[in-house]
Amino acid sequence: MTTATPSPEMQRVQKEFLHRFAVPADALIRAPGRVNLIGEHTDYNGYPVLPLAIDREIRIAAIRRSDDQVRLHNCRRAFGERSFALSEAAVPFTLGDWGNYAKAAMIGLQDRIPHPARGFTALFDGAVPPAAGLSSSSALVVACALLFLHVNEVQVDRLELAELLARAEQFVGTAGGGMDQAASLLGRPGHALKIDFFPLRVRPVALPGAYRVVICNSLIAAPKTESALLEYNRRPLECRLAVLLLCRYLSHKTGRPVSAQRLADLAAIPLTEEEAASVLGPNPLSPAQLLDRLQMSLPELLRILDRAALPTPADGFKLLPRYLHVVHEAARVQAACQALEQGDAEAMGRLMEASHASCRSLYEISTAELDRLVEIALEHGAAGSRLTGAGFGGCTVSLVAREKVHDFIAAVTRDYYETFLAKHKPETMENGLPQDAIFATDAVAGAGLIL
Ligand code: GLA
Repeated sequence: MTTATPSPEMQRVQKEFLHRFAVPADALIRAPGRVNLIGEHTDYNGYPVLPLAIDREIRIAAIRRSDDQVRLHNCRRAFGERSFALSEAAVPFTLGDWGNYAKAAMIGLQDRIPHPARGFTALFDGAVPPAAGLSSSSALVVACALLFLHVNEVQVDRLELAELLARAEQFVGTAGGGMDQAASLLGRPGHALKIDFFPLRVRPVALPGAYRVVICNSLIAAPKTESALLEYNRRPLECRLAVLLLCRYLSHKTGRPVSAQRLADLAAIPLTEEEAASVLGPNPLSPAQLLDRLQMSLPELLRILDRAALPTPADGFKLLPRYLHVVHEAARVQAACQALEQGDAEAMGRLMEASHASCRSLYEISTAELDRLVEIALEHGAAGSRLTGAGFGGCTVSLVAREKVHDFIAAVTRDYYETFLAKHKPETMENGLPQDAIFATDAVAGAGLIL
């Protein structure tokens, strides 16, 4: 899909490409980041989410090569050059390296591209704040995938591509769901997207015109280290273990084998919260307790989970709180779609607050800074505010009446960045307020080829 004329920012990347390589780019690609309004950590459980594509995007200017080499250059100095042959795409760079996102796209598409595949030389410019929970990495994967398809003259249906890239991104080590790639590929101006999974389905939900979405970065980076990955990946694992225990219980109860992959697969089977609580709770489980309840040996469990080992959190597997968060958050997404469709920003606001509280106390993915930001946003008149994305740092999303946005941004800047953060984490504010720490965004169109 080719869209519109290049924006001034894109023209800058185009010019820089010409300047660096002395040939004009023959492809320009943009892929937006996303912000999730509600539905956190529901996607990999098979429940819906409600994100929108934001007006901060990854941009690429590139040329097709006649060989199988990939050369990645970046306008931002912090991201050094990377190069590899397509045949080496499966060998990752070090953990967290930006080149791995390009490799993930190549791996995801390897069966779709006729051999011998052609590579490219590309210049990237990233305007999606990194490590902020705004899916800069998925935008990068999506942009690389569109480029790879373009240089090899292959078309893939967008829904299919979103599913493919969600699986491919697991190459970088996160066991995420499919929200980020779908939001970046399928964004719709003026709309949030209700996204359902397995199979992927998308329905645009109009945003109330009298409100804007404001993103506030806590400036605590959501880290991409090994221990951060473990903390993130622990949640999908805990949910999967909850599914196994519930299946065992339901098989006994119904007298027929009940098997399921994800929590949403159990939604059609009658199961009260009290029953779930007695199966999963009340306390965190050690591996021994877990195996005992499952009546399984460790090798059996590992085979079912398709894992070599069982990463065990020091504070045990917290199955009940994770379960409660997911099923209630899923119900909140349905209610949020209705609230938006009825233009009821107050109802939407209440749902966002309940979501944040649940992310904080049941899913345990908030931080003191995110909690403070949410409080400050509500004090200054946001209809609703909550952390957004994977958590453990990153951003909040707030719904703010259009006419209040200017004052809201000024008040949050004063109370959070200049007062709270400057005192508690002065190093984050050493060079003043970073660009894009706080901004209002429109919902924009999904990724595309411009040239
Ligand atoms: C990350 C993942 C998504 C989703 C969110 C939490 O962004 O990539 O798939 O799980 O966390 O909602």
